[in-house]
Amino acid sequence: EKHLLGTKHLSAQELTNILDRAAYWEQHPVKVSNHLQGRFVANMFFENSTRTRFSFEVAEKRLGAEVLNFSAAVSSVEKGESIYDTVKTLESMGIDAGVIRMKPNGLLAQLAEKVKVPLINAGDGNNEHPTQALLDLYTMRKHFGHLSGLHVAIIGDILHSRVARSNLWALRSLGAKVSFCAPSGMQAPELAEYAPYISMDEALKADVVMMLRVQLERHEGALFSSAADYRAAYGLTVERSERMARHAIIMHPAPVNRNVEIDDELVECPKSKIFEQMGHGVPIRMAVIERALS
Ligand code: CP
Repeated sequence: EKHLLGTKHLSAQELTNILDRAAYWEQHPVKVSNHLQGRFVANMFFENSTRTRFSFEVAEKRLGAEVLNFSAAVSSVEKGESIYDTVKTLESMGIDAGVIRMKPNGLLAQLAEKVKVPLINAGDGNNEHPTQALLDLYTMRKHFGHLSGLHVAIIGDILHSRVARSNLWALRSLGAKVSFCAPSGMQAPELAEYAPYISMDEALKADVVMMLRVQLERHEGALFSSAADYRAAYGLTVERSERMARHAIIMHPAPVNRNVEIDDELVECPKSKIFEQMGHGVPIRMAVIERALS
């Protein structure tokens, strides 16, 4: 099984192996190596991305792979070609691995059964975003030295968050406790048995306060009359951040809606790991690409 479809079915040992290999790459930085010389990796993004797409590309280039970048907007998808036919097309050209991001839930598992080339999930619908969770766990493990026993509070749009789901499964596997904090219209009831919903005041006591982007493009009806109302109820304001524990850290997968879910002043404050997280995307994705092609 060389696909990486999610963290839900990865064992604690598999998760740890990826984190350890990423640590190796962080400790042995290379501009460009020849580890994957002659191997072709296609980045297939059917949904927009900045961080995931570019950090995969940097990771692939550091490993010496040949990189193909597919963008749906300038492809035959615009003529109505399906995701399945697009992936089969690239497979027929001899790619060795595919990184894929797309909107539909459930399609990735079907694709993975039908293609031989290893697929790496770069975010599918609101299902999973495993490499984001891996870089988040990497950031927490690097800061605290361990994951077991940590309390991670994930705050915001849980309903639409593949980041919340991938973090939930991975953190639970490695012995951390996860809580959610969200207005009722942004809660995912099916996850309540794995992570309790707690108040903002309780969430601020966690070791890790992970804010999520309000995904305005995925909401049909307005839950809050204004961004200011959301900030007042669920935003990490400067005042709220002052109630966090001294040792606690702030995380956010980004992109950030500054002054909505997190105050502008906090994005780069000493407690914030937001840009460090992004940097960890490269060694994590190097580890994941190697795993797919090993
Ligand atoms: N965190 C994340 O997935 O960002 P992008 O959508 O820019 O890739």
